[in-house]
Amino acid sequence: MRAPLPDFPWDALAPFAQKARSHADGIIDLSVGTPVDPTPQFIQEALKDASNSPSYPVTAGTPELREAISNWAKLRLGATGDFDVLPLIGSKELVAWLATIIESKSVLIPEIAYPTYHVGALIAHAQSIPVEIDARTWPQADLAWVNSPSNPTGRVHSADELLECIQWARRNNSVLISDECYLEFDHTATSTSVMALTNGDNRNILAIHSLSKRSSMAGYRAALMVGDSALISKIRELRKHAGMMVPLPVQKAMAVALSDNQHVLEQRARYNARREMLIPALEQCGFTVEFSNSGLYIWCTRNEDAWQSVDWLAQRGILATPGSFYGEKGRNNIRIALTATDEQIAQAVKRLKA
Ligand SMILES: Cc1ncc(COP(=O)(O)O)c(C=O)c1O
Repeated sequence: MRAPLPDFPWDALAPFAQKARSHADGIIDLSVGTPVDPTPQFIQEALKDASNSPSYPVTAGTPELREAISNWAKLRLGATGDFDVLPLIGSKELVAWLATIIESKSVLIPEIAYPTYHVGALIAHAQSIPVEIDARTWPQADLAWVNSPSNPTGRVHSADELLECIQWARRNNSVLISDECYLEFDHTATSTSVMALTNGDNRNILAIHSLSKRSSMAGYRAALMVGDSALISKIRELRKHAGMMVPLPVQKAMAVALSDNQHVLEQRARYNARREMLIPALEQCGFTVEFSNSGLYIWCTRNEDAWQSVDWLAQRGILATPGSFYGEKGRNNIRIALTATDEQIAQAVKRLKA
């Protein structure tokens, strides 16, 4: 028997959502981090144009999509050397199943992290070991997750920190997987992909990316993986048997989304403008903002229990996430997602300043 899965954390937030909803001017939900800006029109068109789709799609992706991923990986990530690519049904799918697919027995996860890394280790009956950012302190394990820019902290790993992670993987002959789904949303720090740092030797190195936030396609379920050809071949074989193929219209939409950068720059500007509006307003209310340099979230604290901060904001009709959802070390922090409309963010700022 594996260890039981944790209670679904969002259920604990329901009473605070209720409180925020009772605000006279309604709730501003900055908790879950689900995109609200429309999917760009040209991506919607590509999906519609492919709606006549009687045949099964292939797990490996269409040649057109594989080429789009590969070109994007070279151009945007700086991937070099021999590498393979694989489309995914959203990156959460892989986060939850990777440890099972590659039969890991021990998994390193960041001590403050997206909870599905831990859940994936539990599903695999593996030991889940929280670790600090500095890979020189990491113990031996089969698999390690890194996430930069981080959910929930918005911290960006330096190239040196990522190089230490690569060294760890090489020393231990272990797999390093870099979750880079916020990589293209830089703000005050520049993010580097692990694929740019391997010097063309991609053995045991994987990077995953998601179009959920990059292209506001969370409802499409579209993500991808890039890296070690031998490992990806093994993962692809298992996924072929397990039916995890990306629907063909979504594959078509992914190919056009990856071939365009303009909409990503526009979306990044939207998130960064919201961050710049919210940070001073939070600081005025006594919050200290930590990290939050890039990505989709503001990570802050009033040096009190996170639930107290969540309650204080809920009284103002604003819903935030307690940092304890992301690990014990986050117990005094809250996470604010930038996924609300500009009008809602302006309204949140007004309420905070009142
Ligand atoms: C760090 C991180 N990885 C992966 C995911 C999963 O995203 P998706 O399944 O939409 O690709 C999320 C979603 O919030 C995330 O924050």
